[in-house]
Amino acid sequence: TKITISLIKADVGGYPGHCSVHPELIKTAEEKLEEAKKSGCLVDYRVMACGDDLELLMSHRTGCDCGDIHGLAWETFEAATETAKGLKLYGYGQDLLADAFSGNIKGMGPGVAEMEITERTAEPIIAFMMDKTEPGAFNLPIFKMFADPFNTAGLIIDPSFHHGFTFEVWDILEHKKVLMNCPEEMYDMLALIGAKSRYVIKRVFAKPGSKIPQSEPVAVISTEKLYQTAGKYVGKDDPVALVRSQSGLPALGEVLEPFSIGHLVSGWMRGSHNGPLMPCSFDTAHPTRFDGPPRVIAAGFQLAEGKFVGPVDLFNDLAFDRVRQRCLEITDYMRAHGPFEPHRLPMEEMEYTTLPHVMDCLRDRFVDTE
Ligand code: 13P
Ligand code: 13P
Ligand code: MG
Ligand code: MG
Ligand code: MG
Repeated sequence: TKITISLIKADVGGYPGHCSVHPELIKTAEEKLEEAKKSGCLVDYRVMACGDDLELLMSHRTGCDCGDIHGLAWETFEAATETAKGLKLYGYGQDLLADAFSGNIKGMGPGVAEMEITERTAEPIIAFMMDKTEPGAFNLPIFKMFADPFNTAGLIIDPSFHHGFTFEVWDILEHKKVLMNCPEEMYDMLALIGAKSRYVIKRVFAKPGSKIPQSEPVAVISTEKLYQTAGKYVGKDDPVALVRSQSGLPALGEVLEPFSIGHLVSGWMRGSHNGPLMPCSFDTAHPTRFDGPPRVIAAGFQLAEGKFVGPVDLFNDLAFDRVRQRCLEITDYMRAHGPFEPHRLPMEEMEYTTLPHVMDCLRDRFVDTE
């Protein structure tokens, strides 16, 4: 029987400001999920946090888009919001945009990455969680893991995936998707996913010839855009992803290697600035400098009949110290630009912040140039 892994996250209140999740919220969530595990609804769960985002990792046998599981996540976030309210945490209930649950948590504010898979003999799985950025932040690292031979040696030397992978790319403005094969269509795909605020990688699949079924994703990324749900700026989307590894897939180290860049992503300070994505340990995922810089944590597990063996705090490795140092240098450099692009996002992307209201007030002052 198949197992479904659901990673569902929401910001239900920050402590202080948008910096971290209060331990009481984690406790509340653990109580709810423990109850669900006892009742047989869940096989297993882990509650984690990245910055001010509360992360629910759950395994179950009821498939993707299951109303019971999404409902459980929603109730858990509601309960955590009550706890946050009691502590007067910042922006309690921030990402819960709907008043009542209506069958599927998608489009209600929380971010969702789910995959239904046949558990292999050994199933290494990595949960990535980001804060102060948006779903497109995953485009570069997911591309490198599954399509860049300078990152993933296995694309060259492992016959089990030498033929590459298929990517499902979403146009999140037009609500359309396209399947693209790599390496054959790599240049076309890069033309899309380089525009990371619009085109986002949603899933990656093995190709025919792989021992992994083509119907089961090997990676999945949350793509919910909060402004599209709320119609106004209500914080950043702070995405998550699940990635499977080894035996016909990139090795653990190939999955982590793309995060050694500190690549530039959008979403820092008021969701309005570009900055380096800093890989960090669970303990240091509390963005404070200018509410950042943007963070990513990685929780590594082996699955055992749906149970989570782990996590291992994967970026808690001194081999990532150099990229952290580099991110700090990039942080100083970017910050020196203050309100100037490209530190601040371009006008088109500021459309979903509070800036348009400032511009409205200036509109009447403009006169024609000669
Ligand atoms: P082990 O021999 O330690 O299993 O390593 C296999 C591998 O491919 C690591 O990249
Ligand atoms: P969050 O989405 O993490 O709440 O960030 C809000 C923000 O704009 C912080 O500066
Ligand atoms: Mg917040
Ligand atoms: Mg956040
Ligand atoms: Mg957010």
